[in-house]
Amino acid sequence: MRFLTTWNSTSAANSRQKETFELNSKSEDYQIETINESIYDHPKYYDLVFGADCAAEIKFILGCGNQYMKRPPQKFFEPACGTGRLLYSLAKRGHTVAGLDLNPKAVDFCNARFKRHGIEARAFVADMADFRVKQRHDIAFNTINSFRHLQTETAAREHLKCMGRAIRVGGLYLLGVHLTPTDVSPSETESWSARRGHLSINTHMWTKERKKGSRIERFGIQFDVHNPTRSFRILDELVLRRYHSKEMNRLIQSAGCWQTIATYNFSYDLDDPIEVDSATEDVVYVLKRTGR
Ligand SMILES: C[S@@+](CC[C@H](N)C(=O)[O-])C[C@H]1O[C@@H](n2cnc3c(N)ncnc32)[C@H](O)[C@@H]1O
Repeated sequence: MRFLTTWNSTSAANSRQKETFELNSKSEDYQIETINESIYDHPKYYDLVFGADCAAEIKFILGCGNQYMKRPPQKFFEPACGTGRLLYSLAKRGHTVAGLDLNPKAVDFCNARFKRHGIEARAFVADMADFRVKQRHDIAFNTINSFRHLQTETAAREHLKCMGRAIRVGGLYLLGVHLTPTDVSPSETESWSARRGHLSINTHMWTKERKKGSRIERFGIQFDVHNPTRSFRILDELVLRRYHSKEMNRLIQSAGCWQTIATYNFSYDLDDPIEVDSATEDVVYVLKRTGR
């Protein structure tokens, strides 16, 4: 899956082991206790799967600050921050961070980690399409496709406008989106695994529904969790809005406060910007807050 690449590219950038679906399904083709719940309601497991190594993303975020801003960023903001794996990593480096997420369990997890490490808790529960912050930030990031959770054009535009109010003029918003290509078939499945001590998680994601004429796509996602006392599966569905590159460009323009100044793929290599075309899937848009 190349939403899927969102997840894939993060995994490629870190130590998670990518596996084929065939391998995964064969090895786990047995009765396993299954709970139908949001994977986001399980921050401990989410954080193990996605939080293992944020190095490439952190290097990219800091590098964009150096490359595209007049003064290095100090205040960082993440909408849809989840467990705060990136915020924590930046805070450890001494940066001022803040974030929001719709899921209270993820926010609690994020703030508890801040507290444990003596970092002032700064994440709050809010909808990224409808929020205000008291202070403007220098740079914001949303690296792994969370933006596509917003299911209407209005919500997506409102998000970009809210972000415009949250970031100072001249500041940046690094927006990672997995686009639907028009020239090639989109990727459909992806599996990977993560382990810490006795806890291991095999993850699989697949396309469930992609209807012609609809911007909404449905993906199945499962976490198979194994520890010495229990094995179980968390089964969830993610509903995401799709974007072609032209639709994304129009949307960004329509918010009226962002200019795309560079584009990269999910390898987060600042020396290797990309041209987005109809075959492109992974894009990180470097958006600059304009004066308007
Ligand atoms: C793929 S996770 C990404 C989390 C985090 N950004 C990261 O990189 O690990 C997507 C997150 O988006 C959050 N989310 C979904 N819709 C949202 C909304 N409307 N406003 C705020 N957060 C939202 C979910 O709760 C989830 O934590």
